[in-house]
Amino acid sequence: MRITDFTLDAPQEEFREAIDKTTDMLMELYAGLEKAPAFRMRDKAYLEGIFSGPMPVNGEETYRILEQVEQEILPNITMNIGPYFTGYVVSCSSQPGFLGDMISSFLNQNATKWHLGVAAAEMEKLVIRWLKEFLGIRADSNGILVSGGSAANLTCLTVARRMKAKFDINRDGIFSHPPMRIYASSEVHHCVVKSAQMLGIGETNVKIISVDDRMRMNTDELEGQIRKDLDQEFHPFCVVASAGTVNTGAIDPLEKISAICRKYNLWFHIDGAYGGLAASLDPAVSEPFSSGLALADSIAVDPHKWLFVPFEAGCALFKRPDDSRVTFSHIPDYLAGDTSEGSFRKDFMEHGFQLSRNFKALKIWMLFKAHGAGKLKQAIEHDILNTRYFTSLIRQSSNFEIMAEGPLSVICYRANPAKLNQTEEELETLNKRLIECIEQDGRVFITGTKVNGKTVLRSCFVNHRTQEHHLIHIFDVLEELLQNLLEVTGQKEVIS
Ligand SMILES: Cc1ncc(COP(=O)(O)O)c(C=O)c1O
Repeated sequence: MRITDFTLDAPQEEFREAIDKTTDMLMELYAGLEKAPAFRMRDKAYLEGIFSGPMPVNGEETYRILEQVEQEILPNITMNIGPYFTGYVVSCSSQPGFLGDMISSFLNQNATKWHLGVAAAEMEKLVIRWLKEFLGIRADSNGILVSGGSAANLTCLTVARRMKAKFDINRDGIFSHPPMRIYASSEVHHCVVKSAQMLGIGETNVKIISVDDRMRMNTDELEGQIRKDLDQEFHPFCVVASAGTVNTGAIDPLEKISAICRKYNLWFHIDGAYGGLAASLDPAVSEPFSSGLALADSIAVDPHKWLFVPFEAGCALFKRPDDSRVTFSHIPDYLAGDTSEGSFRKDFMEHGFQLSRNFKALKIWMLFKAHGAGKLKQAIEHDILNTRYFTSLIRQSSNFEIMAEGPLSVICYRANPAKLNQTEEELETLNKRLIECIEQDGRVFITGTKVNGKTVLRSCFVNHRTQEHHLIHIFDVLEELLQNLLEVTGQKEVIS
């Protein structure tokens, strides 16, 4: 029997045309970022009109598919790549990062076993060293790239649990063990709680420690809670400090927490997913905390946040060379590697949960090569300065007030028109409605959160494309939407 020739590939010329068409389409979008709204509200019927249809049985021409992408997908993206986006901790990405992702997707390397992607494995070791150097800590290659901050924290806490359990938890499970406890501040990112749920530690065994007036963990309370738990025969094993909380950018007292960890033999983990990379800055610009990072057993950092690498790129860093391998190595026959003495091969599959892994290192490598550490630090600094400027605009307005200010690039504020003398209840309603109006309007992207139980607007700047005039625009839109809202509720006359 003869097998007929078969491939899914189009002829090379056709493929090149498709790439050229894709480039044109993206360049047009890129050229229009300044004018594009940050968000377009769509209703269910409209979206169902686009995102429906039967599974295609027969294929269609690539250029037709690209036309659909242009007409139906591009108008429905959220413009976090543009200058008016201040929601969550979502960066605008970068040109070298995009190119790295594109190349890595074409090459389709599986960064799992060394021989499946030699350049990928060696480059991952290299960029981990660079990331550590950028953070000002011992620059070695103990770490692994993962999908993002949640995955990095889960990876680190899995290692912490394995290394601090009083027996082989990988073999025996958690069942014959007194409950293990994690300590974190009330401002900790929820991925730490989710990690505890997934690791069988349980949410009730994440002991939440209160914060001071700058939203930093109270270390006296931390130590008190650890002692109490030891008396009650729990097994305290890990403290999670935040180097840049998601809500306000607060940095926990890292040195003090490290000393407590040493005293009670606990794992010291730092969630630096958002703020960790600011440790690279000159102390004159940002609160110095890189010496604190050097004390950690593990750190989560996110190149897809404040290094402007496109999604997904997180990183789990470890102090000791073998901890991640001891935790994750599990090798079936078909994946056995080179065990010869002195082998320099690193199989990343042994250092994390994932087996198949894409070539994330390339986009980080290209970013460092293109800009150098100096320019990347400047970009982070630019965001901090933007935040300070935006804060000054808010502060000057008699319609808004600052609700929490941190050392990094987040600012929390709320509408509180001085002349209206509103009660707390009225302010809650006003600010919740304002957040809805901002989304409906779409010109700028600002989300809400709570600070000390009060609804606030929150802006986070991790965007090298945002300049002073964009900040003024964002602020003007805010004022305008507030005025409109007050007009609807018949209160505008009082403040205008
Ligand atoms: C402090 C902190 N930790 C963890 C995360 C989770 O990161 P990711 O969204 O990449 O999973 C975030 C996200 O904003 C964060 O700010």
